[in-house]
Amino acid sequence: MKTFFITATGTGVGKTYVTAALVADLADRGRSVRVLKPVISGFDETNPQGSDTAVLLRSLGQPLTPEAIDACSPWRFSEPLSPDMAARHEGRAIDFAALVEFCRGARAGDEDVLLIEAVGGAMVPLDDSHTVLDWMADLGAPVVVVAGSYLGTLSHTLTTVSALRERDIDIAAVVVDESEDSPVLISETVDTLARFLPGLTLISLMRNADRASIHAALEAIIGE
Ligand SMILES: Nc1ncnc2c1ncn2[C@@H]1O[C@H](COP(=O)(O)OP(=O)(O)OP(=O)(O)O)[C@@H](O)[C@H]1O
Ligand SMILES: [Mg+2]
Repeated sequence: MKTFFITATGTGVGKTYVTAALVADLADRGRSVRVLKPVISGFDETNPQGSDTAVLLRSLGQPLTPEAIDACSPWRFSEPLSPDMAARHEGRAIDFAALVEFCRGARAGDEDVLLIEAVGGAMVPLDDSHTVLDWMADLGAPVVVVAGSYLGTLSHTLTTVSALRERDIDIAAVVVDESEDSPVLISETVDTLARFLPGLTLISLMRNADRASIHAALEAIIGE
């Protein structure tokens, strides 16, 4: 099984969009896929339809049943806060070792590809002593970094890549997902990143990307 961990330079940048697009493309090509969003905050148990979990299950063509939600997103919190805060507000805490073990268990499955959507940006706290960076490092799966094309993304993206490299985390690709109403040309953003990140796979994805460009992104990431 090939596993990819999808992180980002920040929240709302496009992790779910990119993950769901890749899942749909893989499924179209007859690949078996499992997709996880293990930690999710801002989750309304009475109305899960708009959640990342729902979007990801839909991309797989799976119904939004309580069992499917549990299997995809075991750590759910109602407040739209960082996971450590959202958990604390409910008198709970994420068991970091259990989170890593859950993902390792999924990697032992029979599917061709496992995609794991992280939460927020690369250094969002999960509990009092671990961030997403620790989760990625412990899991050891190649990481896809989703970045935006908004003004400010260059520093956010270079900082994120630097933090990942400091922990020897394998970066499969950086996907620059076009931000809404950005004054910056996505092509210039990618060109600039290429100058500072030689050798790294950089992919640009336009808004409402067509199937061909999603497929090209998949090939660049998965290498097949
Ligand atoms: N290329 C795109 N074309 C059209 N819409 C997009 C694109 N990328 C992102 N979006 C939309 O932008 C919004 C934010 O993206 P998304 O939910 O994927 O971010 P995220 O990184 O998963 O956020 P979170 O940190 O909450 O998990 C969503 O409504 C998504 O559908
Ligand atoms: Mg998301």
